[in-house]
Amino acid sequence: MTILVTGGAGFIGSNFVLDWLADGDEPVVTVDKLTYAGNLRNLTSLDGDSRHHFIKAGIEDKAAIAAALDRYRIRAVVNFAAETHVDRSIDNPRAFVETNVVGTVALLEAVTAHWRHLLPAERETFRFLHISTDEVFGALGPGDPPFSETTPYRPNSPYAASKAAADHLVRAFGATYRLPVLISNCSNNFGPYQFPEKLIPLVVSRALAGETLPIYGDGRQVRDWLYVGDHCRALRLLLAQGRPGEHYVIGGDSERANIEVVREICAILDRLCPRADHRSYAAQIAFVTDRPGHDRRYAIDAGKLKAEFGWRPQEGFAAALEKTVRWNLDHADWLAAVQSGDYRRWIAAHYV
Ligand code: NAD
Ligand code: TYD
Repeated sequence: MTILVTGGAGFIGSNFVLDWLADGDEPVVTVDKLTYAGNLRNLTSLDGDSRHHFIKAGIEDKAAIAAALDRYRIRAVVNFAAETHVDRSIDNPRAFVETNVVGTVALLEAVTAHWRHLLPAERETFRFLHISTDEVFGALGPGDPPFSETTPYRPNSPYAASKAAADHLVRAFGATYRLPVLISNCSNNFGPYQFPEKLIPLVVSRALAGETLPIYGDGRQVRDWLYVGDHCRALRLLLAQGRPGEHYVIGGDSERANIEVVREICAILDRLCPRADHRSYAAQIAFVTDRPGHDRRYAIDAGKLKAEFGWRPQEGFAAALEKTVRWNLDHADWLAAVQSGDYRRWIAAHYV
């Protein structure tokens, strides 16, 4: 049997594909549109590996998806494909609706048609695992309990609203057509292959380039950080053991204010590659205008995942952050390659 992974050339998707094939031999078909955020370089270690097939297509391309599902007799779909950067969604919300909402419904239609033609036993074990975010729940205050599976949706950014709409559609396909769907909502990930528009790799890359380290507002916004490998392990468990129709939240038990994260990155860089003038990289920190609608705090109670599957984050935040910084230092060629014309235009328009 074979699984199909959409968005598998992006940050979490490529980590998932690499971990999947390191963990077993079931083949993977990666479908990715290769937008500015998707990079086949993330998957070069699979070149020539007969267990991996790549198809360049958008999830909205029902004919391409239908052909892939049929050709490889797909038994599960993991949907990572999305527009994912909150700041970009503020500039261009429609692109987020097109991929995250219209694209997801097209994918669901193609997958449902495929699933209906499977043998009864295959229909029973088929899975559609939809990867979503904790941002659908909106913002927490300092003393609020963390998000759980019962938290109502209250998205604040166009990105979060488009992901919320996608989640509702996935759930509706489960309820209406009985497609065996699962939805996971995870907190902020970090690790190898993260595109350098997101906070952690952006700060590493700008620090090394001698540029300012932009902190939105007062930098006291809190995120619950999870190492990408721990996220991927949770997703493998959900695919194997998750109950269709169920919803799971995934988080790192690692709440940190942005300013703390940036200071921690600076301290790691000060040790690993000190500046020529021996001042701390923290001297490059610059407080800048806040993101509009910026959510103050996210936190996750992953109690359901822990109780049902015994899952826990294995990576402590400090060690995983250092590992991630080292990865970025060791992959300067990757960083240079993904900093395309589009990336440079984005940075020029948004940062001094
Ligand atoms: P990413 O931006 O790094 O990668 C997205 C991938 O999707 C890219 O390879 C891109 O080319 C591809 N893609 C975009 N539009 C497509 C389309 N129409 N058809 C096919 N492929 C398309 O994103 P990421 O950080 O890896 O996030 C993956 C998923 O996980 C997203 O659904 C995101 O909402 C979710 N998520 C991310 C985080 C996080 O912290 N990064 C946390 C929770 C959930
Ligand atoms: P980001 O990595 O964009 O993830 P998300 O918005 O999905 O949480 O941002 C993480 C946090 O860092 C968020 O609170 C916004 C903040 N941030 C900055 O302060 N400066 C920046 O340049 C960026 C990109 C993010």
